[in-house]
Amino acid sequence: MGSDERSPARESSSSNNTRRAPADERDNDDAQPEPFDARKLQPAKKRQRSRSPSDPAPRKQKRPGRGARMTQAQIDEIKHRQAEREREAAALAAQTARGAINDVVRQHYNAVPERGRDWRKKDSNIKGLQVLPDEDHTPGAHEHGRDLAGVAGKDLLVLDIGCGKGGDLGKWQQAPQNVALYVGLDPAEISIEQAHDRYRNMSSRGGGGRGGRGGHRGGRPPRLYDAFFHVKDCFGSSLGDIDVIQKVGFGPSPQGGFDIVSMMFCMHYAFESEEKARRMLENVSNSLKKGGRFLGCIPNSDIIGERVTEFNERMAAKKASAATGEPPSSDDKEEGEAEETAEWGNEMYRVRFPGKTPADGVFRPPFGWKYSFFLSEAVEEVPEYVVPWPAFRALAEDYNLELQYHQSFKEIWETEKDDRILGPLSERMGVRERGGGPLLVSPEEMEVANFYLAFCFYKV
Ligand SMILES: C[S@@+](CC[C@H](N)C(=O)[O-])C[C@H]1O[C@@H](n2cnc3c(N)ncnc32)[C@H](O)[C@@H]1O
Repeated sequence: MGSDERSPARESSSSNNTRRAPADERDNDDAQPEPFDARKLQPAKKRQRSRSPSDPAPRKQKRPGRGARMTQAQIDEIKHRQAEREREAAALAAQTARGAINDVVRQHYNAVPERGRDWRKKDSNIKGLQVLPDEDHTPGAHEHGRDLAGVAGKDLLVLDIGCGKGGDLGKWQQAPQNVALYVGLDPAEISIEQAHDRYRNMSSRGGGGRGGRGGHRGGRPPRLYDAFFHVKDCFGSSLGDIDVIQKVGFGPSPQGGFDIVSMMFCMHYAFESEEKARRMLENVSNSLKKGGRFLGCIPNSDIIGERVTEFNERMAAKKASAATGEPPSSDDKEEGEAEETAEWGNEMYRVRFPGKTPADGVFRPPFGWKYSFFLSEAVEEVPEYVVPWPAFRALAEDYNLELQYHQSFKEIWETEKDDRILGPLSERMGVRERGGGPLLVSPEEMEVANFYLAFCFYKV
């Protein structure tokens, strides 16, 4: 990203640490919460597994007697729905058993078909989203001379953790600086094979990009970088046993080291536990050379916190009206129906928490806040974990990673849309109408995009 390493980090205005509901709206179970201070976390060596706060609690039943107004068919239907939800909750709880989540995630990504670029551009229901990350799209980079890792003029060594099917291979080929070496790691072995195939195809085409970056290399197709691919759980074990990583340099102060560690739409799986989050950061930090950058995109905990707060306020208002004897509204639950949990989305994506969520939207302790996530054509109800931003940032400092950049996708669009290079690029990619016209991404697609934020840390 930028060469101005010490430029002040831009923080989003609504931090999770500051959002609190009035005391009378807070759930009794959550009374007197202490603001979370991640600096008080266990030091790296004393590893402790945090209990998952989303372990499903026993479901409460609604007011007895109300079922008398229902027909037998309605009761049967409710019981059927309840049994389904209980089966889902039990399945989700079973997945929490150590290692099983990894398997669910791995199997899921292995099973997602690789459909090719033409399909993504023409036939996908979410093509507006597909084009967003596909080409060189490095917000902020251009402001600082497009120097991605403070090593202007040098070829980059890039480590892509959670590389999946190699969706970013083309982007690195067209990056503003030449890439000399790319290493892609992912626990999903089929995805790794597909990423490798994609690389071979690029190689057989001579490595030439498809254009679209602004021609900063005078139109010459850059030589394709060398690439290595490995099946690896990067949150459960050290990367130090991978040959190519050892050769580049691995350790607290490695001889050498990567210029960039990229983790796109992947890091949230590490927030299942403190142990995994720390292992992930240790791997990132040990792989980076001093001054190297750690880039990523993750779900925005401010957005999740806001939705969860809204949901809990709605539930509190319902409880209050039930206590004053007001007639139940049509969306009130009936006898036998499971307690509602926070859930939102649109036809393209859905977020659903299986259990209780914090009334004030502040996720503490910061690990294990599981939700299931659905994204049309990409992610089928896979368990993910909230990454509470302030805790992540503080934890990263324990591993000598200092924040350089942090923006929601909405902020990125606002700041970059009229940029000299990224503005025309967004038009060529079909994100915006030609000539600085309106956004072509649907409001539904924009809502999904805005579920995410981008960050960059540098190693000190
Ligand atoms: C949404 S996909 C993103 C893939 C790719 N980064 C991209 O943007 O196209 C999430 C990826 O994270 C990977 N992942 C999940 N757990 C992981 C782990 N423990 N270590 C490394 N990668 C992991 C998944 O296998 C999956 O490929």
